[in-house]
Amino acid sequence: MNKRRPNLQVALDHSELHSALKAAVSVGHEVDIIEAGTVCLLQVGSQLVEILRGLFPDKTLVADTKCADAGGTVAKNNALCGANWMTCICSATLPTMKAARKAIQEINDKNGEIQVELYGDWTYEQAKTWLDAGISQVIYHQSRDALLEGKTWSEKDLDKIKKLINMGFRVSVTGGLDTENLELFRGLDIFTFIVGRGITEAPKPAEAAQEFKAEILRIWG
Ligand code: 5RP
Ligand code: MG
Repeated sequence: MNKRRPNLQVALDHSELHSALKAAVSVGHEVDIIEAGTVCLLQVGSQLVEILRGLFPDKTLVADTKCADAGGTVAKNNALCGANWMTCICSATLPTMKAARKAIQEINDKNGEIQVELYGDWTYEQAKTWLDAGISQVIYHQSRDALLEGKTWSEKDLDKIKKLINMGFRVSVTGGLDTENLELFRGLDIFTFIVGRGITEAPKPAEAAQEFKAEILRIWG
């Protein structure tokens, strides 16, 4: 049974700062969470986070660093720029994740969180160690490149998502989402739908965000 309505997060994966900020200004007020996307962070660095924080002082802001090492330093740098949450890749070591969590919490108090990005191979045993370390958010991902090769959401994905929710994780879902495929997740307690191109590359991004919200409301009431 659903306990709550999923959040909507926009991912800003632009290749240059100006377009990311333009998209942020047009949709930032429509969504619950704003993501400084990996693509843009790799291009312009944490100044993206800093500017977004200036534009949206009260929004939850995620730095999608997919951090693999130096967790404490990367988390500190992004938190000082205004990130509340930061992502670590699932193959990062537990000490990296713990160091990232410690650093982001030192700056954000209890609002600082690490999210683990699930790509490739990972195990439920590993996932249990994240929970034990106080990390209770994971992001279930369909990789952009896998989608381009024709992979789609399947029952297997839904079963894994269910299992992670039952373990006690808040599970966000992302990768090529459009308003039509949200229905696939009906009945699941999804924490957040993370949408990039489905919003930012729409002819009218703010309207696209509103359509996602309406669909979430229709399905999760
Ligand atoms: C890719 C990401 C993206 O930000 C996320 O998957 C959303 O992108 P899109 O909706 O455009 O697929 O983290 O690694
Ligand atoms: Mg992202």
